[in-house]
Amino acid sequence: MTKLLLRALAGETLPVPPIWMMRQAGRYLPEYRATRAEAGDFLSLCYNPELAAEVTLQPIRRFRFDAAILFADILLVPQALGADLWFVTGEGPRLSTITDGAEVAKLKAPDAIHDTLAPIYETVRRLSRDLPPETALIGFAGAPWTVATYMIAGRGTPDQAPAHALMRDDPEAFAALMERIEAATVEYLSRQVEAGAECVKLFDSWAGSLSGEAFERWSLAPMKRITAALKDRHAGLPVIAFPRGAGTAYEGAHAATGADCIALDDGVTPDWAAKHVQTGGCVQGNLASSHMVTGGAALVREVRRIREAFSGGPHVFNLGHGITPDADPDNVALMIDTLRETVDA
Ligand code: CP3
Repeated sequence: MTKLLLRALAGETLPVPPIWMMRQAGRYLPEYRATRAEAGDFLSLCYNPELAAEVTLQPIRRFRFDAAILFADILLVPQALGADLWFVTGEGPRLSTITDGAEVAKLKAPDAIHDTLAPIYETVRRLSRDLPPETALIGFAGAPWTVATYMIAGRGTPDQAPAHALMRDDPEAFAALMERIEAATVEYLSRQVEAGAECVKLFDSWAGSLSGEAFERWSLAPMKRITAALKDRHAGLPVIAFPRGAGTAYEGAHAATGADCIALDDGVTPDWAAKHVQTGGCVQGNLASSHMVTGGAALVREVRRIREAFSGGPHVFNLGHGITPDADPDNVALMIDTLRETVDA
């Protein structure tokens, strides 16, 4: 029995698509908040294999999702490369900043990240042992552009302006940083696969602030090289790429990234994406996260609309972005029940 997620990623059209949810282990769940309190803080939770595996399993137990995503964060790679990283409660991540080539040169070598990241690989090993046999395990990393935006600015920014400024004012330093992150990401994901991840996802959450040639060069092309390197080392490994905010540039993204599945945010309609993106392969998405807060008839209608629009090809049901802390777990259950109800009901 092949797991549903892996069948969809391999291109199979299924009567009911597999479902999982970005940030499915998170603050909207009381059991997550309890385990996080036990760990002390968010980073201690990420680096504690027993507790990180526990929070990864919580939404699987509660909702029987078809896939679990490793509990970690995209900013652990910068930390492993030598950046300082901390989280300010209620505000988000803070990192030491990269402003020139000398600082890029001081970062660690891509294969020197594993000491820091060893607990993450241990979490993956525990999960591949403890997950139910029908549940697929997804590993992940940030795509180089998104990771670079945080390393350059030292925090999340609305428009990624510091990263755009470095790209413009010191293109060599910017390119060197991108190269370092790309190489580290291949090593990191490769270890996740060796530890038991059955597919991997690349999060390019800020791809939408790149346009034209810059989008191709700094979002799509690095994801394509990472995907190719991983498939070279791990034959048949399925890859999901998420160039969030790509808009009409989602068209052609399968070929441009080499990924088996393209994750869609809710900025594109399912009807458009079925015609222009799903023709290239499996798509994932794209219910607006706000329905997990508001629920009701609108949620039911939208789940059916998305399932219907993508029913002619391979599809993984998901949100367009992560579930938010103010979401109601009952709405998650309603989404899943609506999706899994018999197709001809
Ligand atoms: O999806 C999952 O359940 C797996 C775990 C996961 C987390 N972060 C846990 C997390 C994944 C896949 C991520 C990815 C991530 N992290 C991205 C890319 C996806 C996206 O959302 O666009 C980004 C940009 C980050 C960086 C990051 N981590 C930010 C900006 C923040 C603060 C914002 C927030 O929601 O508080 C985090 C913190 C974070 N990462 C939390 C979780 C569950 C909340 C931390 C907490 O418990 O306090």
